[in-house]
Amino acid sequence: MKILVLGSGAREHAIVTSLLSEEAAHDIVVAPGNAGIAQDVRVEPDLDPLDGIAVTEYAIENGIELVVIGPEAPLVAGVADPLRTRGIPVFGPGKVAAQLEGSKTFAKRVMDAAGVPTGRAVRASTLLEVEEALDALGAPYVVKADGLAAGKGVLVTEDRDDAVDHASHYLEQGSVLVEEFLDGQEVSLFLVSDGHTVLPLAPAQDFKRLLDGDAGPNTGGMGAYSPLPWLPENFVDEVIDTVAIPTVRQLAREQTPFIGLLYCGLILTSRGIRVIEFNARFGDPETQVVLPRMVTPLSELLFAAATGSLSAQQRPEFAWDVTVTVVLASEGYPEAPITGRPITGLDEAAAVPEVTIAHAATARDAQTGELVATGGRVLSVVARGTTFAEARSRAYEAIGRIGLEGSQYRTDIAAGVTV
Ligand code: AMP
Ligand code: GLY
Repeated sequence: MKILVLGSGAREHAIVTSLLSEEAAHDIVVAPGNAGIAQDVRVEPDLDPLDGIAVTEYAIENGIELVVIGPEAPLVAGVADPLRTRGIPVFGPGKVAAQLEGSKTFAKRVMDAAGVPTGRAVRASTLLEVEEALDALGAPYVVKADGLAAGKGVLVTEDRDDAVDHASHYLEQGSVLVEEFLDGQEVSLFLVSDGHTVLPLAPAQDFKRLLDGDAGPNTGGMGAYSPLPWLPENFVDEVIDTVAIPTVRQLAREQTPFIGLLYCGLILTSRGIRVIEFNARFGDPETQVVLPRMVTPLSELLFAAATGSLSAQQRPEFAWDVTVTVVLASEGYPEAPITGRPITGLDEAAAVPEVTIAHAATARDAQTGELVATGGRVLSVVARGTTFAEARSRAYEAIGRIGLEGSQYRTDIAAGVTV
């Protein structure tokens, strides 16, 4: 199949790696891609993934049979819509359904209408409303920017002044949500949707805070692992029945079917499962641990979702072994990452058994050809093993071989998980 993948992160690299591992040989092109993706497939660095018209023209001219939209920005910008209008199969929701991720207010409204369990929340447009909501819901305080904020829009704090400061920053860009604090383990569950039917992938856990022990600021995600051996057995079915199906049906009723990846960010509270967020795309870095375990060909699932034929597919199968990913980030991430520094040791790192490296923010220096870091999260080191201890030791052995001045990573990803 001729497949166009939009995006340039480790998630897109993991998607490409998974497509390349299939028995069927695909013709894959990524726009814009990065230096790591360019080692594996063709890239189109000048095709702007946010320009729906340009992407559609490219797809038509190049006979693309499936477009996979990786990141949230092109989804929220509505890039799927002109593609779909022209009859090109596209994995990713249109502009309105992508509001499930793009607007927390939209997501809460859909959840309310569909009866999906989520935290109580108040939308506030002024500081006075924020303070009233903080006092009504009590500490710990949870304040969320309403729109996209690259994983940095949420603050969870015991400090009321910090909560007010965070809210006042995001109020300049629009409204904020003050939410009840939910206590429990977090789970990311991905469901492929064709607008009517959903099929679940394997659950994963993401580590959102920058520092060991879940300290420091929220990030896009510093590591992940899969499977989650501690989950209740009926967990996935319960999420399908109480979260995913009601949400997909609600959007279908509203004439804005959700075709793509429904990412359910969940907390397992003592009172049951609660949704803390929806995303409209694969998670990063969870994708890096979910896809390597998937036995079912990824292209079949994505194509079936894009063409409305998911009900003819079996539930995807996953290998029993475990995967762990550790993210290497630039100095200064997440506030102000320092970019342009050289990266060394990747061949040595990839030589560790069962290790692959997904590139996130890398480029080749035009003059020297040297690999350099171009952003906050630079690489995802992914390791497979028969136990978490084995996968962890491989991941950390590999990351220890990579050189990037000032770089940071967590040392406690999947620590203490046993199988
Ligand atoms: P979000 O961007 O909504 O996923 O939030 C980022 C992180 O903030 C989540 O992964 C949680 O760790 C935390 N968080 C979000 N909402 C809540 C909540 N209501 N209660 C506790 N923690 C939360
Ligand atoms: N890992 C969190 C996200 O992809 O939003």
